[in-house]
Amino acid sequence: PGGPEYQAENATLSQATVASNHAGYTGSGFVDYVNTVGGYVEWTVQAATAGPATLTFRYANGTTAVRPLAIAVNGTVANRDFPGTGAWATWSDLTLTATLKAGANTVRATATGAAGGPNLDKLTVGASSGGETFVV
Ligand code: GCU
Repeated sequence: PGGPEYQAENATLSQATVASNHAGYTGSGFVDYVNTVGGYVEWTVQAATAGPATLTFRYANGTTAVRPLAIAVNGTVANRDFPGTGAWATWSDLTLTATLKAGANTVRATATGAAGGPNLDKLTVGASSGGETFVV
């Protein structure tokens, strides 16, 4: 997906660290959540105008169990399960549609499972093609 990219390693982190020990990430690394509930990655996303946008999370989950995240956009939460990608060096995209406001928006991805979140590489904010169901 096109649009501005926001690297996870440049975001505000809690109970999560920057790592680079699995290949295939973009930027200078990725974020590895600690294996517990409550860690988060928080980005500030700029939007020129208010309206719908796609939020695409590039992630890896080398386990066979989903790693759930609560995605909060300006405080409104959508829960998503991030399925296994086959290996920690295999990256996939998970996209949802959100309504952004003009200016700065806060996107926080919080681990809600005991195993913590998936590894996160980046967030890409794209134009909505219209007709999607808004989840955030
Ligand atoms: C492994 C892997 C990490 C991953 C972790 C996890 O340790 O190397 O990149 O974050 O598992 O289970 O979350």
